[in-house]
Amino acid sequence: MAASAMGGRLVLLPCLVVAPLLLAGAARGHPGCDSLFPQFYDHSCPRAKEIVRSVVARAIARETRMMAASLVRLHFHDCFVKGCDASVLLDNSTGIVSEKGSNPNSNSARGFEVIDEIKAALETACPGTVSCADILALADRDSTVLVGGPYWDVPLGRRDSLGASIQGSNNDIPAPNNTLPTIITKFRRQGLDVADVVALSGAHTIGLSRCTSFRQRLYNQTDNGMADATLEASYAARLRQGCPRSGGDGNLFPLDLATPARFDNLYFKNLLVGKGLLSSDEVLLTKSAETVALVKAYADDVDLFFQHFAQSMVKMGNISPLTGAQGEIRKNCRRLNGN
Ligand code: HEM
Ligand SMILES: *[C@@H]1O[C@H](CO)[C@@H](O)[C@H](O)[C@H]1NC(C)=O
Ligand SMILES: *[C@@H]1O[C@H](CO)[C@@H](O)[C@H](O)[C@H]1NC(C)=O
Ligand SMILES: *[C@@H]1O[C@H](CO)[C@@H](O)[C@H](O)[C@H]1NC(C)=O
Repeated sequence: MAASAMGGRLVLLPCLVVAPLLLAGAARGHPGCDSLFPQFYDHSCPRAKEIVRSVVARAIARETRMMAASLVRLHFHDCFVKGCDASVLLDNSTGIVSEKGSNPNSNSARGFEVIDEIKAALETACPGTVSCADILALADRDSTVLVGGPYWDVPLGRRDSLGASIQGSNNDIPAPNNTLPTIITKFRRQGLDVADVVALSGAHTIGLSRCTSFRQRLYNQTDNGMADATLEASYAARLRQGCPRSGGDGNLFPLDLATPARFDNLYFKNLLVGKGLLSSDEVLLTKSAETVALVKAYADDVDLFFQHFAQSMVKMGNISPLTGAQGEIRKNCRRLNGN
């Protein structure tokens, strides 16, 4: 009985039958079929996690421009738009306007070829079984761990969307010049709270930003073109050199100038000395007593940051997943199976 559920054809069975019977211990406390759990592929694709991890490790090793950061960001940009359903991975096609063309993603989101490589390996090992949405969640966790960050068990069982939303991508993902209340509102809309905003912003301990994402801070129109007073002076001067008033939009700067390729808590230490790159980073320190307290706590205690980051990541990964018979398991993460 259980064996017949392994084929992947009877999509509901791994949840209804296999989890309660075979994974009784592991799945205890698992509330039901509409939620995710780490052992989801243990029978249908036992090597899934290992395959994802090895492709991610190779991609990070061969790339100097910090593929780990780009993969972490992709899961975030997936989850904030219609839930964690791999909508961010769809290319333009009939009836689909790709989220890749949105303001937050255009000329910025990357790592899609790595996801393709993971998907190809998984289709060889267990065809039609592992969703693109779960690949994003696992690649995020593996990337974090591989550059020094915390480990968490990734709840699995997401299915892939049948559509994309460029409007959602433009409206629901916070912009770097949003006010803190706007950022908090955009997180609340996803069921995430102020503590999640601060912990997850800690992902900016790795990766790069383009000049265009923070130029506004360097040349204040209503203040004789002065730099934002919250920026430490020598840091502001250096940024202005590499990010001129016009041109150089794509010039890249580390979000954590101290250790850009290492997942640690120096992002928070930088904030305390006026060296946060984006306005959305800086406002965590200047606009709310609650966020300041968390910034200081994480700057003081890397273990606390890691623990909260892992918890908030699981929360983010649980945003409105498709489960059961909803959506599909795409064969190619860039298109719907029907196309
Ligand atoms: C709090 C609101 C947030 C805002 C306003 C924001 C904004 C940005 C911006 C503007 C960039 C630079 C993009 C570019 O110029 O190409 C960036 C990069 C990045 N963001 Fe965020 N972000 C936020 C939250 C998050 C969260 C929650 C995560 C993940 C948990 C995240 C992970 C990253 C990573 C890893 C990068 C570097 C990407 C790379 O190097 O390819 N960010 N973010
Ligand atoms: C998708 O198509 C739309 C309009 O048809 C276009 O504006 C957009 O640039 C395309 N997006 C990508 C990522 O190619
Ligand atoms: C935020 O940045 C966008 C894109 O650069 C710009 O169009 C908008 O006017 C800015 N908003 C504010 C409030 O400065
Ligand atoms: C620009 O300068 C004005 C006037 O000093 C100030 O009120 C405003 O907050 C500044 N804007 C930024 C983004 O620093």
